[in-house]
Parts: sequence; structure tokens; C-alpha cells
Amino acid sequence: MSENNVVSRYTTGARINHWITAISLILLALSGMALFHPSLYFLTNLFGGGQMTRAVHPWIGVVLFFSFLGLFFRFFTLNLWNCDDTVWMKNLGKVINNEEEGLPELGKYNAGQKLVFWGQSILILLLFCSGLVLWDVYFEAYTSIDQKRLSAVVHALCAIGAILIWIVHVYAAIWVKGTLRAMTRGSVTRGWSWKHHRKWFRQEVGKH
Ligand code: HEM
Repeated sequence: MSENNVVSRYTTGARINHWITAISLILLALSGMALFHPSLYFLTNLFGGGQMTRAVHPWIGVVLFFSFLGLFFRFFTLNLWNCDDTVWMKNLGKVINNEEEGLPELGKYNAGQKLVFWGQSILILLLFCSGLVLWDVYFEAYTSIDQKRLSAVVHALCAIGAILIWIVHVYAAIWVKGTLRAMTRGSVTRGWSWKHHRKWFRQEVGKH
């Protein structure tokens, strides 16, 4: 494909930021599940045993938190909700049936992507805060047993939510053909942009 046919979507910095976030979340899910239930304890082998898993899991959480914070500040203005998003959500059936013509033209992100963004923003914040309460090595003295119990429930529920949203995110990225290259190569085709994010496409083309 000639470079004339593509539109730049992510800088190298944004892509590195995104993939650090993605790898951290996968490692957290694996180590977290290992700690969550005895039937999943075998997953500790990936991290050098039970003690190592318990020790590294919170640190990977710190990496995820700050890495996601980077994504948050890069993208939050583009994820603010507007009236077109409400119309788009109401017509989700048409979108799924590939009948997007007639729906409002979209900016850089559609309503589904925005919900993923805000969902992960809230859940990662809750995971980080509840994780700190559970991190006894450093913070045992600062919280009560009841607070730790509550945090354990919040932490587990938010982790399930974040993993489910992650599955939706990856499924959508694969399902909408031509999307993955946005995060691998940093660019998308003009056809993809015109079909899925026409308002954004017009803005990008108008810049040159
Ligand atoms: C293997 C896992 C993942 C894959 C294959 C993947 C794929 C992608 C792709 C292709 C895009 C570009 C979409 C577009 O520009 O339209 C994207 C954007 C994005 N991804 Fe991921 N991703 C993964 C994991 C994650 C994780 C774990 C998070 C956060 C917890 C995340 C957060 C984001 C954010 C914030 C954006 C920008 C979209 C927005 O702001 O709404 N991704 N991802």
C-alpha cells in the first residue's frame, strides 16, 4: 500500500505507551488469577513461584497505573461524550450489521471505544487504590482489617470488569478489519478512516 493511501493515527510514543499498558494488564490478569483461586495456582510457575508472584503483582500494578495514566492524558479529550455518541449507541444494531451510512459522522473514537476508555479509567483507579490497601508489605499499618476485607472484594470485582472490557476491546480491534495496524504501524487506510471515523478523517486531511 502506498504511503499516500494511509492516515497517521498514533505516534510511536503513544504506541509504546499503549503496549506497555497492554502487556502489564495481561501479566496482572495472569498473576492476579494465580493469587485468586487455588485451582489457578499453577499460573505462579510463570512468575517464579508463589512468593515471587505475590511480590511482583503489585509492582506490575504500579506500572499499569502510571502507564494508563499516560494514555488517559493523551486521549481523554478525544473520549468526551457528545450527542452523536448517543445516536450511535441507539443504532448499534445497524453498526453491527455494517450499515453505518446515515449515522452521524464520527470523530477519532466511537461511543463503544469511549465506553471502554472510561470503563478502564474508573476500574484501573479503583484497582490501584484497593491494591494499595492490600499491599501489606508497605502499608499494613495504615489500614484496618475491615478496610482490607472491603478492598479485597472491590479489587476482585474490578479485576473481573477490567478483564471483560479488555476482551471486548481486543475483539473489536480484530473484528473491525484494518484497526489493528493503527496500534502496530501507527497508521490506518483512508478507506478505513472514511468508513469508520469520517469526521476525524476530514479533520486530518484538512490539516495538510
Ligand atoms: C493485546 C491487547 C490489546 C490490543 C490487541 C489492543 C488494540 C488496540 C488498537 C488496535 C487500538 C486502536 C483503535 C483505534 O485507533 O481505533 C487500541 C486503542 C486503545 N487501547 Fe488497546 N489493545 C490492547 C490492550 C489494551 C489495554 C489492556 C488497554 C487498557 C487497559 C488498552 C487501552 C487502549 C486505549 C485507551 C486506546 C485508545 C482508544 C481510546 O482512547 O478510546 N488497550 N488498542
